[in-house]
Amino acid sequence: MYYEPGKTPHGLPHDPFKSCVIPRPIGWISTVDTQGQDNLAPYSQFQNVTFDPPIVMFSANQTTQGERKDSVRNAEQTGQFVWNMATYALRDAVNISAEELPHGIDEFERAGLEKLPSRLVKPKRVKGSPIQFECEYLNTLRFPGTPPMGTVDVVFGRVVAIHIDDEVINDQGLVDVLKIQPLARMGYYDYTYVDNQFRMVIPGNSKALLAGLEGSPDKAAQATPER
Ligand SMILES: Cc1cc2nc3c(=O)[nH]c(=O)nc-3n(C[C@H](O)[C@H](O)[C@H](O)COP(=O)(O)O)c2cc1C
Repeated sequence: MYYEPGKTPHGLPHDPFKSCVIPRPIGWISTVDTQGQDNLAPYSQFQNVTFDPPIVMFSANQTTQGERKDSVRNAEQTGQFVWNMATYALRDAVNISAEELPHGIDEFERAGLEKLPSRLVKPKRVKGSPIQFECEYLNTLRFPGTPPMGTVDVVFGRVVAIHIDDEVINDQGLVDVLKIQPLARMGYYDYTYVDNQFRMVIPGNSKALLAGLEGSPDKAAQATPER
């Protein structure tokens, strides 16, 4: 099949677009507003964008009422947000925290989640989530789109602190992904989680390239000749 989004019909009962970029990790984003009200919501349009310094982004369409989402407003107004790892075990809480609720309702409480304090930023962390990044807001890219939801705010933040539960670090010092079972979004109302992994290393002997693949600034610095 072939179609041009917004111009020609796809002809399917459901739009296939979101099913084409899968699986998407979930940015389970906690923020706080200027009055101190906690907020939590999942964003599957989420990624790390670089590792040195570590930067992540989440992408928030406008609400069904055509308004900017609370996570965006809070991150911009306070300059901070936290990313929490969403897991299969926490899937119901992730789902509940996505409900479109009036500003000021605490999705932690709504989803029955306990809060943990962060160290460098004000937004709380999700207790039971095995990994969290404390982030300082960098900027927002706003792309206009079709109302009411099409316009999107892509929010970037620098990761300034990382919490990893010791229970999910294996005896080789690696994050134990199979133990965590990270949750991921697919298309439609479908999800998956990581229950298998395999290893591949880029061929050749560029230690710097491999350091980048691993995401290790220290090894990259050692492997890169001084100029
Ligand atoms: C798993 C999951 C992923 C989601 N991903 C996105 C996303 O990438 N972008 C978006 O705008 N909304 C996404 N949503 C919907 C938001 O979570 C929802 O609009 C939420 O109410 C936003 O809350 P906030 O206004 O407190 O930020 C997702 C929902 C779920 C369940």
